[in-house]
Amino acid sequence: MDKSTLESHATITGPMHAPLRHDSAHKHVAGTADYIDDMPEPAGTLHGALGLTDRAHAEILEMDLAAVAAVPGVVCVLTARDMPHSNDISPTHLHDEPVLADGRVEFHGQPAFAVIAETRDVARRAARLARMTYRDFLPAIDIIDAVATGGELVTPPLTLERGDAEGELERAPRRIQGHMRIGGQEHFYLEGHIALAIPGEDDEMTVWVSTQHPSEVQRMVAQVLGVPSNAVTVNVRRMGGGFGGKETQGNQFAALAAVAARKLRRAVKFRPDRDDDMTATGKRHDFLVNYDVGFDEEGRIRAVQANYAARCGFSADLSGPVTDRALFHADNAYFYPHVKLTSQPLKTNTVSNTAFRGFGGPQGMLGGERIIEEIAYALGKDPLEIRKLNFYGDAHSGRNVTPYHQKIEDNIISRIVDELEASADYQARRAAIIEFNRSSRVIRKGIALTPVKFGISFTLTHLNQAGALVHIYTDGSVHLNHGGTEMGQGVYTKVAQVLADSFQIDIDRVKITATTTGKVPNTSATAASSGSDLNGMAAFDAARQIKERLVAFAAERWQTTAENVTFVANHVRIGDELVPFAQFVQEAYGARVQLSAAGFYATPGIHWDRAAGRGTPFYYFAYGAAVSEVSIDTLTGEYLVDRVDVLHDVGRSLNAAIDLGQIEGGFVQGMGWLTTEELWWDEKGRLRTHAPSTYKIPLASDRPKIFNVRLAEWSENAEETIGRSKAVGEPPLMLPISVVEALSMAVASVAGYRECPRLDTPATPERVLMAVERLRAG
Ligand code: MTE
Ligand code: MOS
Repeated sequence: MDKSTLESHATITGPMHAPLRHDSAHKHVAGTADYIDDMPEPAGTLHGALGLTDRAHAEILEMDLAAVAAVPGVVCVLTARDMPHSNDISPTHLHDEPVLADGRVEFHGQPAFAVIAETRDVARRAARLARMTYRDFLPAIDIIDAVATGGELVTPPLTLERGDAEGELERAPRRIQGHMRIGGQEHFYLEGHIALAIPGEDDEMTVWVSTQHPSEVQRMVAQVLGVPSNAVTVNVRRMGGGFGGKETQGNQFAALAAVAARKLRRAVKFRPDRDDDMTATGKRHDFLVNYDVGFDEEGRIRAVQANYAARCGFSADLSGPVTDRALFHADNAYFYPHVKLTSQPLKTNTVSNTAFRGFGGPQGMLGGERIIEEIAYALGKDPLEIRKLNFYGDAHSGRNVTPYHQKIEDNIISRIVDELEASADYQARRAAIIEFNRSSRVIRKGIALTPVKFGISFTLTHLNQAGALVHIYTDGSVHLNHGGTEMGQGVYTKVAQVLADSFQIDIDRVKITATTTGKVPNTSATAASSGSDLNGMAAFDAARQIKERLVAFAAERWQTTAENVTFVANHVRIGDELVPFAQFVQEAYGARVQLSAAGFYATPGIHWDRAAGRGTPFYYFAYGAAVSEVSIDTLTGEYLVDRVDVLHDVGRSLNAAIDLGQIEGGFVQGMGWLTTEELWWDEKGRLRTHAPSTYKIPLASDRPKIFNVRLAEWSENAEETIGRSKAVGEPPLMLPISVVEALSMAVASVAGYRECPRLDTPATPERVLMAVERLRAG
């Protein structure tokens, strides 16, 4: 973390913008932060394990579970038939996702049964004893297979179109067509999926589950059990990482735990082992991008046409909105005068892919950046020059309309990029690198500066709402609950800051409590980076209501006007009198003032017409940029990330300590996605990279050797967000696109930078080496 940045923020007073530590940081380190597996288990708790199929596409002819059931300690074995009301946990209206495979297997590793046993170990061992017979069908494992076998889609595609792309491509002085493959990504949470269901009286069920979306788990459990939502309570205190993978993927474990708990009248816990977790739950979508760009001799884009084909897996899950978001970010920070973008959400016989930090946006953006690189190499120019030439203009430029017809009115990308270019000394370093490469035989270097512009809001407009519940107890302590879930990103801390600021009390007077469907109903997933935007505003609204009552009470009781009542440093000032907050609250209680409120917020001014491909889906944009420098070994393909400089826009930061953590963490996670993390399915559809032994996430030693991260401290959200802040959760994940482009430059050096290297992602050392060899072969 950049210390000077933190220190400059430490001077800001008031809890709203203070760089306070994450409420659980010390507990994470000390091991005292409770995750679900740390909770004391109710007496008689049973443990579940998934029974996985080993065919990618087949019909189950026979499922002989006798040997499974016969293992001592096994209490019961569940199949699709045992779902009391419904076997469906599809988050869409397509009803294409069974809890357990029923007759048909659609991916290798799809759960077909579940074992419930006295211990987790017994359940896992027994789950391997099933005797299955299948009739096999031809599987479509990857994007190419899926297209070749008819191109069935899991969800309707999207088209974004403006102007006459086809015509302008014909007329443009220069034109390039190409394609790029972009790999997926495993979430690799520290805490994997887990659910604990505890049966209650009558039809009641309480579920503790590691989920970003308690309300959806509630709905799914109710649907599978055939009980109303009011019978199901879903709780989550924190997740050991969500990253989008826990928007929908927890549903299955929660549903199975609840079904078993209801049947056996005992608490049931599911905590899949890491290999099962990686095999049976969805990941980031991999994409094949086909692009066609027309431009002039200077490098100015005339038209872009691109198709984004994605491996969605066997069901829709969130593939609709994920592939939509890929298109929403295909332009990144660039104005396309004429454009036509299409998505192709392909059905494959693989695990159903799902949300992952950026939600398709990163893949869209990477495609857009590759187009820029193509133009730069074709014209023999620095890609940064082409980037700047094509940036969106300001509101009066006529160059501020996106492919979805939203006008960009808060554009600060030029300022961000100019400042970073100067502070990172980009030009001099690039010149030095070109000089170095001239004489260096084996080691080659590269440098790249890439921008990020990321639209903030759920593109499904109605999801942009949130609630909060705030109580003040008679001792002046405050109880806070809201719909946001904590996955390490710090939303609990930020929302608590909002409350502490509203009442001007110390943050430790605010008790942060577990998210539960029983306190705040009908919540959206904590996703789309909007957790603190939405829940912060809802908490602010609850505080406003309570404060209004308190002020009215004080004005009457002290015989003064409302303007003379203010909240200051753990006190309430009424005229000249300073009353301690706790004492004031006690008096208000005595006067029968309601000290509790439910707050609500809905993002204003956004709308989206998907069929027409038009609207204002985003409330605002978050911006950022990064410069990365790398060295590659042209004999082995191995590389190091030598230095990274980041300048990122979080508006007026709610908490600079947390925001810097999000930027650093997002950068490293994105770098892992783009460099070393490779998902590999064999021809039978088996995921062969299902453990850390074969799937390489970044290590502490992979961190850029020099890593300068700064906030754009002058930035302030033009919209009335909480404290004029901006969302930070996802945008930084795209900053390491600069690492890929720096690798590209290093590779391109072996052929005099005359050709844009065919470097797909993840840009593993193998791919870097192959790209070098291809260029050397001419
Ligand atoms: N940071 C941590 N430490 N752990 C996480 O799981 N998830 C990311 C991001 N940052 C995540 C994280 C994702 S995918 C999103 S959408 C946002 O946090 C969600 O939280 P927010 O909306 O409160 O920013
Ligand atoms: Mo984040 S992918 O929107 O959960």
